[in-house]
Amino acid sequence: MADISIRNLVKTYPGGTEPATKNISLHVEDGEFMVLLGPSGCGKTTLLRMIAGLELPDAGAIAIGGRDMTYLPPNRRNLSMVFQSYAVFPHRRVRQNIGFGLMTRKMPKDEIAKKVAWAAELLQLTPYLDRYPAQLSGGQRQRVAVARAIVVDADVLLMDEPLSNLDALLRLNFRAELKKIVEHIGTTTVYVTHDQVEALSLGDRVAVMEAGKIAQLGHPMEVYDRPADTFVGGFIGSPPMNFLDGQVADDRIIFGEGASIPAPAAVPRGPIRIGIRAEAISIAANTPDLVPAVVDVVEPLGAATLLTVKVADQSLKVQVPPSQRVSPGETVLLHFAPDSVRLYDPQTGLGLVTSQ
Ligand SMILES: Nc1ncnc2c1ncn2[C@@H]1O[C@H](COP(=O)(O)OP(=O)(O)O)[C@@H](O)[C@H]1O
Ligand SMILES: [Mg+2]
Repeated sequence: MADISIRNLVKTYPGGTEPATKNISLHVEDGEFMVLLGPSGCGKTTLLRMIAGLELPDAGAIAIGGRDMTYLPPNRRNLSMVFQSYAVFPHRRVRQNIGFGLMTRKMPKDEIAKKVAWAAELLQLTPYLDRYPAQLSGGQRQRVAVARAIVVDADVLLMDEPLSNLDALLRLNFRAELKKIVEHIGTTTVYVTHDQVEALSLGDRVAVMEAGKIAQLGHPMEVYDRPADTFVGGFIGSPPMNFLDGQVADDRIIFGEGASIPAPAAVPRGPIRIGIRAEAISIAANTPDLVPAVVDVVEPLGAATLLTVKVADQSLKVQVPPSQRVSPGETVLLHFAPDSVRLYDPQTGLGLVTSQ
């Protein structure tokens, strides 16, 4: 096992105008599950491939377990990878596919058999060991790829959107299983996804990337609860964080006529953007500082009901219990949980002093 130290990585592809990674630094602890999360094209795969040695950086350094690996070929880094596509050998049985890395490392046959049996059991592949990949479902093929990756005792496990080719239900089940397996084996893992739910559910920490940079690095709940900027808040969460523009005056943040909340003490006067999650807003009565809103859309989702409402011409999402009866066109009074109001610079989108 090993930690990964990434320093100032810059990579521009030939013909590329913008660098795919712009001076990225990141430290992954020994045994940590690090998720790289971001929209398509933000540089996640490029960063992962540089860790793997499949791409070389223009500048910067990568060390694994304290050893510089920046320019070493992939096979000298003792890592294993799982890709989005099921990279399994079609003409080898599941057993040989899983054991492939051990064979190339010239492990004795009986030891290979033992390790393959262990990995197959962990990934529920034992009944399929003698099948060929063509005789497996997509989900099972991806299990083979994961089994092959974990069987070799690599220092580092790298995964690039391993669940994204699976259908929704399979993805959900496999996600929980993958979490259990990686926790069990304890290998340092870097996991790439554009799916924020996957990132929150799997990561010890999440590095949210935007256009070749890390916009925020933190524990999943930290990133969810206190987005560093409006990009992160708008990317994470379903629905994403609400943003509402207002003006700070006389100790209040004013959104419009009769719609204001108390301003935290340290906020400067002038324009401001607040961020608040749908579940931090409730419909209330008989409490001070309520914000009037007109209900636009009511969406019952089963466990909760999602409302789209208008506050002074700005749209926001509010999550209420399914028992709450509201109709489109109705005016409601909203309570913004004061501890959940985040403040952003409306020009730059960067977080201001936290409200706590
Ligand atoms: N082989 C390549 N040649 C040229 N440009 C590339 C290549 N691979 C990726 N890029 C570009 O680099 C940027 C980052 O891509 P990538 O790392 O694949 O992002 P992600 O995995 O987050 O979707 C994108 O603008 C993409 O078009
Ligand atoms: Mg990618």
